[in-house]
Amino acid sequence: MNILILGSGGREHAFTLKLLESNKVNQLFVAPGNAGTANIATNININPTDFKAVKQTVLDNDIKMVVVGPEAPLVAGVHDFFLADDALKNIPVIGPKKDGATLEGSKDFSKQFMQKHGIPTAKYQSFTKENLAEGFAFLETLEPPFVLKADGLAAGKGVLILNSLKEAKAELKEMVSNQKFGEASSTVVIEEFLKGIELSVFVLTDGKNYKILPSAKDYKRIGEGDTGLNTGGMGAISPVPFADEAFLNKVEELVVKPTINGLQKDGIDYKGFIFIGLMNDHGNPSVVEYNVRMGDPETEVVLPRIESDLFDLFEGVANQTLDQKSFSVTPKTATTVMLVSGGYPEAYQKGKEMTGFDTLENSIAFHAGTTLKDGKVVTSGGRVMAITSFGETIEEALEKSYKSIHKIHFDKINYRKDIGFDLV
Ligand code: AMP
Ligand code: GLY
Repeated sequence: MNILILGSGGREHAFTLKLLESNKVNQLFVAPGNAGTANIATNININPTDFKAVKQTVLDNDIKMVVVGPEAPLVAGVHDFFLADDALKNIPVIGPKKDGATLEGSKDFSKQFMQKHGIPTAKYQSFTKENLAEGFAFLETLEPPFVLKADGLAAGKGVLILNSLKEAKAELKEMVSNQKFGEASSTVVIEEFLKGIELSVFVLTDGKNYKILPSAKDYKRIGEGDTGLNTGGMGAISPVPFADEAFLNKVEELVVKPTINGLQKDGIDYKGFIFIGLMNDHGNPSVVEYNVRMGDPETEVVLPRIESDLFDLFEGVANQTLDQKSFSVTPKTATTVMLVSGGYPEAYQKGKEMTGFDTLENSIAFHAGTTLKDGKVVTSGGRVMAITSFGETIEEALEKSYKSIHKIHFDKINYRKDIGFDLV
């Protein structure tokens, strides 16, 4: 079977490699892909939100399944587009329709969903410029720090955590009245600050049955010791040592089951991944957010730990037979360290030639922001490459990732030297 993967990051390179392990997969196409996917699949240079171009790619290449990496095409309705088109409607899309994708596309919707279905989450209220004064009054009832979230998609930048009430009021006004994050912040969710340690749990569902995938912790800040600006993610570890069996059982009973049942009750037929961002407060889970896709770089540690055939699982999602599929995960630890362009997440240069990544012995190099230029691999983004390794312990896996990184070179390479610092 030929499969199309939409996206271009480390996550999509990880999907490509994993799907190629299946003997049922024939040819893989990645749109637009990167230099890593170009090496093992066929890249198609189109934008994943250009649905007409996606359709043409599917028809031209006899594609029989589409796997969606990032949220944008899902929120824009790529799955609905397929169902509404006679030539495409029988081609399964791994990723929810627009209604399900709203769990990520609107924070207000996802908070309402959690409240309605009794899923533990921070107490909240939503405001627009019409009821700004009530927003100020709600802020006065909360203790600092104050959490303000743009309702819509804001490229990971729409959440502000502020220590002073004065600042929180000023930012709320900026968001709703002056469109600080554009249309995305015309509605703002204000919520209680949650204490605890963050981690993510990933679920694959066919709308009725589910598999809980390995948990992971990512490192979002650019600087060591979790300091500095937020990034897309600088590294990740799976499994998460503090997410023990008792905690994960609570996550399944209090979060996963009510989420799947809630989707069914609300008539949302959901096929795809659910990424549940959680806070662990003394063993009690609370949901920080839902995403409707896999995380990046979390995918680069979660997928390598899955021993089962990923294509077989996707067929289970498509046919709603996920309960009949076997699922196993290696107990080994996987770590990944993201190599980034100097300057990222602020301004940085692209087009730097990369060497040393193709001869790693003890790690996998997942390409993210890379491209081919005159037959050479060059950088083409902020996050460039994720270096994943296995170990019996976090320390052993990290040692392999860092040893491999020392062999990789490009101008102004940067990475965090302390991934996992809080766990070892
Ligand atoms: P979100 O996009 O909702 O995941 O928020 C981005 C980040 O802000 C999260 O990963 C948390 O680190 C932090 N955050 C969001 N909501 C809360 C909250 N209610 N309490 C504490 N931290 C939060
Ligand atoms: N690493 C966080 C995300 O993919 O949203």
